[in-house]
Amino acid sequence: MSKLEDIVSLCKRRGFIFPGSDVYGGMAGTWDFGPLGTMLKKNLMDAWWNYFVEKRDDIYGVDAAIIMNPKTWVASGHVATFADPLVECKECKSRFRADKIADGISESVTTDEFIATHTKCPVCGKENWGPIRKFNMMFSTHVGAVLPEDTQDNPELAAKNVAYLRPETAQGIFTNYKNVIDTIYPSLPFGLAQQGKAFRNEISPRDFILRDRECSQMEIEYFVAPATWEENFEKMRAAQHDFLENIIGLNPNHIHELEVSAADRAHYSKRTIDFMFDYPNGEEELMGLAYRTDFDLTNIERESGKSMAYRDKITGETFIPHVIEPSIGVERIFLAVLSTAYTEDEVDGSARIVLKLPSNLAPYKFCVSPLLKNKPELVAKARAVYDQLRQKYTFVTWDDSGNIGKRYRKQDEIGTPKCIVIDFDTLTDDTVTVRDRDTAEQVRIKIADL
Ligand code: GAP
Repeated sequence: MSKLEDIVSLCKRRGFIFPGSDVYGGMAGTWDFGPLGTMLKKNLMDAWWNYFVEKRDDIYGVDAAIIMNPKTWVASGHVATFADPLVECKECKSRFRADKIADGISESVTTDEFIATHTKCPVCGKENWGPIRKFNMMFSTHVGAVLPEDTQDNPELAAKNVAYLRPETAQGIFTNYKNVIDTIYPSLPFGLAQQGKAFRNEISPRDFILRDRECSQMEIEYFVAPATWEENFEKMRAAQHDFLENIIGLNPNHIHELEVSAADRAHYSKRTIDFMFDYPNGEEELMGLAYRTDFDLTNIERESGKSMAYRDKITGETFIPHVIEPSIGVERIFLAVLSTAYTEDEVDGSARIVLKLPSNLAPYKFCVSPLLKNKPELVAKARAVYDQLRQKYTFVTWDDSGNIGKRYRKQDEIGTPKCIVIDFDTLTDDTVTVRDRDTAEQVRIKIADL
């Protein structure tokens, strides 16, 4: 099995991630987080929120609706340009994202350029392609009490009721920029942050949770005076490295910056750095840092007829701020964290799987158990220790399944940093054994010092 398959298997076995709608045979491009995955995901999102919002004085949170006025996506350019190159094999009718099956071509590839790569169909092996067509990735839906028969002969009414599931959280931030200026009027530079779901009808969802049709994003739109964009871009770039490497513990040697060429940049960006990560199946985009200029605010001003100008508090000068945007997919950092933590090693002469998660991310920090579960006095003492810790902390778990060796293996696999074991000595001297997940070393300490 490849390392990615090992991680997928661990995720299902231990309740981190299940295929979406598993009981009905799944739903391509969707995944469900189980009890442990939900905790790890929340810890990741909380770590990001704490680092970028709670600990800073210049970034504020917003939580906007997922379904937005459709004008949003006209103004943002998504209706016109949020599309991937779709190509169909004329032999077997399979459809692919052209830039993902041919080497060395970009998203803006033309039919002639694609044909010249002599790519064979990954399904039937033939080389007989139709033209490249642009496939818009937004999911559309209808809002309000409109029946299909109402719009059958009335395309205008149909168009009027179309809404989209947001393909990025960013627009929920931009559309609230004016509300924030009118209410709390922060000094420039300032940022607005949002975490939440985003939806993309990906042509080929793949690589476990790396490319999904429904994902979660954590984005900041950082508003700056136009002349200061470069220095703020550099500060934001450094902050991303600090978060990824020092807060969630990714190996800096596995993160590579890619300066995105003008041809490959999103329609709104004048400069983009993709932070690439060495995943088990190869290098892939982890997150992006983009200079969006005044693209979005200018478009909103035009579509809404409302001024997006900012009035400088000292000079009184008015202008439309420019924007630096760091954008991270939660599933992508989730997989980066898991691939970093997943380790196979040997302890006491036997092989084990261990998730060496940073303790701030681990679903549980402590596991409490009695050495033997059929000794009522040990169980009662262990319960008392557990209850005492549980009153203070949410991240303590109880485990009295199997024997102690099996419990250690299970806690290693779910990444619990410390196992606290109550044995017969505990009954006389109030000390417990604390076992370290990574070294398997055990120390004896007083319950009062836990
Ligand atoms: N607002 C800018 C924006 O959305 P993007 O490069 O399209 O930019 C940002 O997406 C990040 O969102 C990516 O770097 C990735 O981490 C994540 N992401 C995008 N599409 C994704 C998908 N289909 N599945 C999982 N994560 C995705």
